[in-house]
Amino acid sequence: MPKKIAILPGDGIGPEIVAEAVKVLERLRQDCGLDVELEYAPVGGVAYDTHGTTLPDETLALARAADAILLGAAGGPKWDQLDTALRPEKALLRLRSELVLFSNLRPTILYPQLADASSLKAEVVTDLDIMIVRELTGGIYFGQPRGVRTLENGERQAYNTLVYSESEIKRIAHSAFRIAGKRSGKLCSVDKANVLESSVLWREVVTELGNEYPDVTLSHMYVDNAAMQLVRAPKQFDVIVTGNMFGDILSDAAAMLTGSIGMLPSASLDTQGKGLYEPVHGSAPDITGQGLANPLATILSTAMLLRYSLDEPEMAKRIERAISQTLDAGLRTADIFRDVGRQVSTSEMGDAVAQALATN
Ligand code: IPM
Ligand code: MG
Repeated sequence: MPKKIAILPGDGIGPEIVAEAVKVLERLRQDCGLDVELEYAPVGGVAYDTHGTTLPDETLALARAADAILLGAAGGPKWDQLDTALRPEKALLRLRSELVLFSNLRPTILYPQLADASSLKAEVVTDLDIMIVRELTGGIYFGQPRGVRTLENGERQAYNTLVYSESEIKRIAHSAFRIAGKRSGKLCSVDKANVLESSVLWREVVTELGNEYPDVTLSHMYVDNAAMQLVRAPKQFDVIVTGNMFGDILSDAAAMLTGSIGMLPSASLDTQGKGLYEPVHGSAPDITGQGLANPLATILSTAMLLRYSLDEPEMAKRIERAISQTLDAGLRTADIFRDVGRQVSTSEMGDAVAQALATN
């Protein structure tokens, strides 16, 4: 039985970058016996335009039935005026929540070929390899109550709730400890326990769980300090575990250490290893349709898909090697092009990676 991959290209540059990842999958299918079936469905603004909702029922059903989901991006200025509940971003949040994809892995790796694309000095970032584990289905993104109300004096007031239950903290902490155990054995939990009750509980639960992982050295850091340390001395980190909103912010900051957010993949996993894979960057409406988008984050997300949901670690490694070879050959999309090498378009980059796969 072939494994089923739901392909949700979405908005903006989504279709362009997903097309390149599909080239890579097709190549693996032809040359390496990868047994997969790809099924497409609309999500985000394009789905709103054609179906009146950013997450049509059929798309959700397909995502549920699939072994893994590859998503491009959702959102764009065309849909910015919609109510919060109707916005394309909401489709992404619903997919995460409905499928209980609570464990969001965001590897931040600096490719040696791109050291001069980082905004930090080369010696601060050389060999950088951090894994951010972000809780993805709880916290302030989903907490109730939330809304906007009008006070007695006529003033409007908006509110959200930052809530974490013990079980939510435990399951993300288990994910993070296991990952840390397979890497350097260092885990840093990031919170705001000097101010927030939810963070005090977070710290307590993570600390307790640490007893089950004697091989992992656990440390704690306040989120403001973590933001500073990430740009001061990022190599002190190996695995970081944190809540939904802190993880959202820290992962964007970490992305720039690598030179371009166009290089960063992500996986969002449930307890069974089923996952949604997407680049960390968004729909980039400013460069849509110009061949400027970097498909590597999406191709790297495809490697994560093979590793975590399809149990094909060798094929994942082949993709990563093919990307390295392509960078070695000097090919650069606009976002990572400096003075050396050759600037190529989105599809030239995808072709080159698919080509390199054949020879590695
Ligand atoms: C991300 C994005 C999303 C988030 C948005 C698009 C809802 O910023 O995946 O980091 O905030 O989680
Ligand atoms: Mg974000």
